[in-house]
Amino acid sequence: MTIAVTGATGHLGRLVVEALLDKGTPAADIVAVVRTPAKAADLADRGVEVRQADYSDRAALETAFAGVDKLLLVSGSEVGQRVAQHANVIDAAKAAAVGFVAYTSVLDAQNSTIGLAVEHRATEDRLAQSGIDFALLRNGWYWENYLGSIPAAGETGALFGSAGTGVVAAAARKDYAEAAAAVLLSDGQASKVYELGGDERLTYSELADVISSVIGKPVSYKDLPQAEYAAALEGAGLPAPIASMLADSDAGVAIGALDTESGDLQRLIGRNSTPAATALAVSTS
Ligand SMILES: NC(=O)c1ccc[n+]([C@@H]2O[C@H](COP(=O)([O-])OP(=O)(O)OC[C@H]3O[C@@H](n4cnc5c(N)ncnc54)[C@H](OP(=O)(O)O)[C@@H]3O)[C@@H](O)[C@H]2O)c1
Repeated sequence: MTIAVTGATGHLGRLVVEALLDKGTPAADIVAVVRTPAKAADLADRGVEVRQADYSDRAALETAFAGVDKLLLVSGSEVGQRVAQHANVIDAAKAAAVGFVAYTSVLDAQNSTIGLAVEHRATEDRLAQSGIDFALLRNGWYWENYLGSIPAAGETGALFGSAGTGVVAAAARKDYAEAAAAVLLSDGQASKVYELGGDERLTYSELADVISSVIGKPVSYKDLPQAEYAAALEGAGLPAPIASMLADSDAGVAIGALDTESGDLQRLIGRNSTPAATALAVSTS
């Protein structure tokens, strides 16, 4: 059984490879598909087969998937280009006779109103039309997404956002990675749809309390209108499209778009998800 993981030099993909190894998968049975092999030298040193392919290079993808039985498509990070890129991956997997594809989507992708869901929805649809057996790993937010807010929270005593009193059911990347590995390593996963989120569901006021405990300083949540929050992020140096996307996602939190009580993540990993305090403290230490 050969299992390939795309985006294996990214945060999540790397953790999936680690999880596969931890669960006893021989390194020689794992293919790390990456666009920059030099970044995967440590994986190659451990016996993982590293193959080069960019999501925009359909032919290279097909070559990289030769002999692969199961594939994890980690969604790309080039927002706006991902529909075409993911279509390349799916078409190449089909041409290479890959038997099963798992895709890292977003919570409730078919109904979600957040902007980020658009490309995930299109990818899910493409998979459904491909004829390949597939499973959807609809990932919720990572707690690590809030790491970038910690320095400013330390300086200003405020966590800014536009999530109102909505809750986010986030988990650590490692949790989602273990869930992906569990799906890749078990049978009967065709057509499964997992709504993955943590069992800790926090409002941003509660998240501010967690950040306060992590950094040992008082932090309170300051809710801003979406446009004002986007402008503040841009003022802090983020590119306008990213600022707008983050504010849009926060507005999604306000209406429950990044909340779930499905229990799917916990069932797949066989334990509770990582609390925010642990994910943020470990990541900041
Ligand atoms: N659930 C959440 O909270 C959340 C948050 C942020 C992102 N995401 C999504 O989840 C994915 C995984 O998260 P992450 O934290 O692992 O992100 P990440 O660290 O940015 O990793 C993204 C991976 O995709 C690869 N990639 C991007 N464009 C590519 C291309 N054109 N061809 C081949 N590979 C390409 C990157 O390769 P390089 O290593 O060469 O850059 C990297 O390995 C993200 O890409 C994004 O779609 C989810």
